[in-house]
Amino acid sequence: MKGNPKVIKEINAMLTEELSAINQYVVHAEMCANWGFHKLHDAIEKQAMDEMHHAEWLIGRILFLDGTPNIYKLNPIKIGKTIAEMISLGAVSEVDAVKEYNGAIKVCAAEGDSGTKQLLEKILGDEEKHVDWAEEQTDQIARMGMENYLTTQV
Ligand SMILES: [Fe+2]
Ligand SMILES: [Fe+2]
Repeated sequence: MKGNPKVIKEINAMLTEELSAINQYVVHAEMCANWGFHKLHDAIEKQAMDEMHHAEWLIGRILFLDGTPNIYKLNPIKIGKTIAEMISLGAVSEVDAVKEYNGAIKVCAAEGDSGTKQLLEKILGDEEKHVDWAEEQTDQIARMGMENYLTTQV
């Protein structure tokens, strides 16, 4: 089905966001594993897998709309040097993702593409959960202190 070029452009921008997030989280997850924080590894790896599914769905949608998925572009990837940095950089990425998905959903609505809008809304729901997770970790660190928090993450 021939898609609207404006919508395809938005989906490709979201794809860039997802591919960048996958890279960031895979590195963060493996750093956590390397330091022995296995629970944190599992949680971040699960987020990386969520982002991979998002990328798959977006690529599928672009192809359905007869567009070309741009898999070559990545945003600058920010890797944390500490657990605190990883969590706060992850939170920044997720808040940005929520903002960008909301913007892309508006474009889909304006262009009358309800199918793409529904897909982006489904992904937005996951991104909001990712923001929630990052905020929970930040709260726990603030309440119990980083050392105590890390004892819960081995
Ligand atoms: Fe995502
Ligand atoms: Fe996310």
